[in-house]
Amino acid sequence: MEVIILKDAQALAQQGAVYFQNQLRAKPASVLGLATGSTPVGLYRELIGLFKADLIDFSQATSFNLDEYAGLSPEHPASYHSFMREELFAHINLPSDRRHLPDGLAADVPAHCAAYEAAIQHAGGIDLQLLGIGSDGHIGFNEPSSSLRSRTRMKTLTPRTLADNARFFGSPSQVPRHVITMGVGTIMEARHCLVLALGTAKAAAVSAMVEGPVTANCPASVLQMHPQCTLLIDEAAAAELERRDYYRWVYENKPAWQRIA
Ligand code: GLP
Repeated sequence: MEVIILKDAQALAQQGAVYFQNQLRAKPASVLGLATGSTPVGLYRELIGLFKADLIDFSQATSFNLDEYAGLSPEHPASYHSFMREELFAHINLPSDRRHLPDGLAADVPAHCAAYEAAIQHAGGIDLQLLGIGSDGHIGFNEPSSSLRSRTRMKTLTPRTLADNARFFGSPSQVPRHVITMGVGTIMEARHCLVLALGTAKAAAVSAMVEGPVTANCPASVLQMHPQCTLLIDEAAAAELERRDYYRWVYENKPAWQRIA
């Protein structure tokens, strides 16, 4: 895992956007894995800015989002469908028929999840997967104890995640308890995983992900076994990393050909 410690949220957003720009330049018909939550919002704003400046083109791309709340319609204001429309899709030229999110209202959940997996395969697999991390170490909505080889399926949120996400709903009791999420195994098949984490609230999860054992107790820790995983964090999120000076050293001494931004 490449750990890159940056000075603040703005630096994270800018550098994260460069990975998308490079990906789409190298392969205009890329398959992008997208994420929700507060953390990627700055990166999405950067992408919108690049698009308006004619510096990025999504016209041939396809996207798959990680997850959606079960029981919420795409029009529900707190659904991830609404989030993606407002924060990104309404402002860029990614064709609507190539944007995919799990359907929170699917009548046959296992069949819907199997079809979601098949659609990812049919599109050629995910080239670049954006991820945040939950304070309990979840990726997508794969809560602690998720199988490290899981596929897209329904999961039950932990009370901690309900509390963390209550700000989008009003109170924890209004947050749906069930979600549909890509599995850990699904995420691990992406060719490049780009993880973002900001703030002290994520410091313990980041430390468990990067320096803890690979364990279903912290699903993000499985990314230690991913062949190409880049972690962009700010100083606060890096605070509990034992080897943070080494990660800085590595980044400062990167050969020129390996630098991306
Ligand atoms: C949510 C999402 C995750 C996200 C995480 C962190 O539960 N399902 O994909 O990474 O929580 O969210 P935030 O960025 O708001 O801290």
